[in-house]
Amino acid sequence: MVSRLGFCRATCLSFLAASFLYQEVSAQSTDATCILSSLGWSFNSHKESPCQVASSLIGVCYNTGYNVPSLPEQNHYLGPSIDDSNPCQCNTVVYSLMSACGLCQNRTIASWNEWSANCALVYTSYPEPIPSGTVVPGWAYLDVKSQGTFNAALAQQDANATESTAIPVPTSTSSSTSSTSSETSTTSSAAPTVISTADAALAADDRRNKIGGGIVGGVLGLFGLCALLIWLRRRRKTAQKNQLLPTVSEDSKEALPTIEISSVSYAHQSPSSV
Ligand SMILES: *[C@@H]1O[C@H](CO)[C@@H](O)[C@H](O)[C@H]1NC(C)=O
Ligand SMILES: *[C@@H]1O[C@H](CO)[C@@H](O)[C@H](O)[C@H]1NC(C)=O
Repeated sequence: MVSRLGFCRATCLSFLAASFLYQEVSAQSTDATCILSSLGWSFNSHKESPCQVASSLIGVCYNTGYNVPSLPEQNHYLGPSIDDSNPCQCNTVVYSLMSACGLCQNRTIASWNEWSANCALVYTSYPEPIPSGTVVPGWAYLDVKSQGTFNAALAQQDANATESTAIPVPTSTSSSTSSTSSETSTTSSAAPTVISTADAALAADDRRNKIGGGIVGGVLGLFGLCALLIWLRRRRKTAQKNQLLPTVSEDSKEALPTIEISSVSYAHQSPSSV
């Protein structure tokens, strides 16, 4: 019984961790202020600085979001540590945004090799879904690997390039039905290739959302079952010990493994600077 209970707890915790990982955080957080007006072109159409956009994109990999700190004089942003070398940081889009973020504070930048030194895998695009409400400037998608570094002059030439946003996902059956019918009507008038690409992306995203919902739903169910098991066991043990029937409030407080859950949350770390 004891070992079964131990297993149950471990399972609950790992499923809980998985459900935390699935959360998408779109909040922006940064202490950095752009002071150079010559880098004004690096702001997106929502007047957000590259530091704000970078915070939002990196935050996707962290349960509590991600704060982009301001750079002290003579410093530049280093890339992720080994612990932080996740897809949100190991890509050229975030490197470009963080470089512009450093430059607009009148600071220097790291080379692409420096930035990605701890990354086992690197991406030349942003590999995660863009959080809803975040607008990523087109210049952030320029190639930096061939030059080895972010090139502000080249980026400025692309200042008005098309921005990237989250792909809107239909949330209910009725809305997906209506979007299907509007797609049918636009297909006849507009370029079909563009629409079918967007369609495929939409479908993929929709599928993923359903899987995610399934996982989270299963997690909650499993967790509830485990909590019930633990509670029942505790109740029986306590009842055996002191003959008295414990009150429900005492027992449920004791039984829920709240302390262990809070230890699952991810460390909120700022990028190291030199
Ligand atoms: C930017 O930094 C340089 C030296 O690093 C300094 O001379 C200049 O005044 C700074 N510009 C602003 C706007 O602070
Ligand atoms: C981008 O648009 C702004 C405002 O319309 C304009 O001032 C600027 O010259 C444009 N930049 C480029 C590189 O086309």
